[in-house]
Amino acid sequence: MAFQSLATSKGYRDMGREKCDCDGNQKWLSELSETIMTYALCGFANIPTMGIMLGTMAGLAPKRKKVFSKILAKTCVAGTICCLIRGCIACIFPSGHFKLGKVNIYEQHIKFESMTNQSFVAREIFAEIRQKISSEYPDRLVGYPNRLHLWEEDKKNWKYESEWTNANSMILTGAAFYHKYYSHAYYQQTPAKIVDWVDDHMNCEDILMNFVIANLTAKAPLKVSPRKKFKCTECSQQVSISVDPGHMVERSECINFFVEEFGKMPLKAVEFRADPVLYKDDPEKHMLLPLL
Ligand SMILES: *[C@@H]1O[C@H](CO)[C@@H](O)[C@H](O)[C@H]1NC(C)=O
Ligand SMILES: *[C@@H]1O[C@H](CO)[C@@H](O)[C@H](O)[C@H]1NC(C)=O
Repeated sequence: MAFQSLATSKGYRDMGREKCDCDGNQKWLSELSETIMTYALCGFANIPTMGIMLGTMAGLAPKRKKVFSKILAKTCVAGTICCLIRGCIACIFPSGHFKLGKVNIYEQHIKFESMTNQSFVAREIFAEIRQKISSEYPDRLVGYPNRLHLWEEDKKNWKYESEWTNANSMILTGAAFYHKYYSHAYYQQTPAKIVDWVDDHMNCEDILMNFVIANLTAKAPLKVSPRKKFKCTECSQQVSISVDPGHMVERSECINFFVEEFGKMPLKAVEFRADPVLYKDDPEKHMLLPLL
């Protein structure tokens, strides 16, 4: 019975259900708890086994049958304690749980969120592949308007590049999602000086998010979909800051400022894109996005 509920709980987790329902009942356990439970439950400390053990031991040493029956209850208690201790030991060993270090510890909270509300469109596209991405790349910033940072040797400066390039090192957060832990990392763990700087300039929060994630994971973001741009139809009435010609200069300034504050350039460039294998087979799904 215990195994059955453990399996149900694991099933809920694998399906990516919400961890708690509205009444605050937990629907599934974290991966670590599952490991502990599995080891703790894999034992023979139960009442039917007591009978089996008594039969076996009495068969081996019939003269000591009385002694066996006397200590039977105690052995069951001792056995239970052993099982629990085994669970404790099992959780010490490095399992998949610690594989990704800091970030993966939060895996049980997997729930992607985005910096702006614009990405609800992206969410629709990603709905299908999101489950897969969230389990395979929980630590990545996933989305599609991609950008690159370049080193300008003559100016000894970093440059923000938005031209079409093969490589990418940043994903803009307009149509992207990421582990909610990174929102915490952004607002709580990033030095206030940097966050305030972004707030004052009202620009580059997306670049900073890329820096925060790359600083924690030393990995590049994951670009999905062949799309290059993201246009929010709902926001089209507003004047976009990217129309301003000074915008690109300011974006480069942001990168240089962040590099100075982080003490290094954490961004990693990759030439990589992930798409669902059959993404072209269902044009309907792609119609969810306004045509650009
Ligand atoms: C985000 O956008 C969706 C779709 O337009 C809307 O229903 C929702 O209320 C918005 N949420 C916020 C917090 O603005
Ligand atoms: C970068 O990450 C390290 C931990 O990996 C952290 O100690 C440091 O504060 C981070 N830097 C910034 C500027 O957030």
